[in-house]
Amino acid sequence: MEKPERGRFITFEGTDGAGKSTQGAFVERMLGEHGVECIRTREPGGSPMGEAIRSLLLDRDNLPATPATELLLVFAARAQHLAELIEPCLARGTWVLCDRFTDATYAYQGAAGGLGFDAVSVVENWVQDDLRPDLTLVFDVPVDVGRARTEHRGGEADRFESLNDSAKEKIRNAYLELAARFPSRIEVIDATQSMESVNEAVAGVIRGRLARWRHA
Ligand code: TMP
Repeated sequence: MEKPERGRFITFEGTDGAGKSTQGAFVERMLGEHGVECIRTREPGGSPMGEAIRSLLLDRDNLPATPATELLLVFAARAQHLAELIEPCLARGTWVLCDRFTDATYAYQGAAGGLGFDAVSVVENWVQDDLRPDLTLVFDVPVDVGRARTEHRGGEADRFESLNDSAKEKIRNAYLELAARFPSRIEVIDATQSMESVNEAVAGVIRGRLARWRHA
């Protein structure tokens, strides 16, 4: 039997409150309309072990953790997620839409946590080998806009949502620097616009990629 064409791997990134999860659902619907089989997943998480690590990092009493501890925990979750879900899906031709991936580690642990680009890169190469997303959408909003949106959403802030504005600025800038470094993979979407305008911008990017990938 002929090997299926490998699925595409799309990730959604941004500071907290940028609206990336809503856009993940939008892209899932859009791909469905184009007859593309896809699944949506998230990081940290995506497997039973990954979700347990997520709750250790985000839900449980904010146990003290150094940036290095956070880095190793998110990559432990990622290794399991890749083996259990992402790699098998891509291999059988299913597209994977993932709410956050390794760019978040560069932004949160590398930039805000102070570990730097190279420390993240070493573990990335070891855990992922040459696997990288085919497309990353970075939803960009100024820090005060993101904070107002998460506060409006209510509930208790988790470890990362409660970071101060200077850490959040570092996270936002790190995403913009990653976009400048990897311009063919990363598209920055201005997420201060209305939901309809953000949807339109996202739809434009996805339509462009569909046309390119289907004729590759
Ligand atoms: P979210 O699902 O609401 O985006 O929450 C996930 C949080 O985890 C978010 O605040 C960013 C943080 N995070 C990291 O610090 N490093 C990582 O590698 C990932 C994937 C997420």
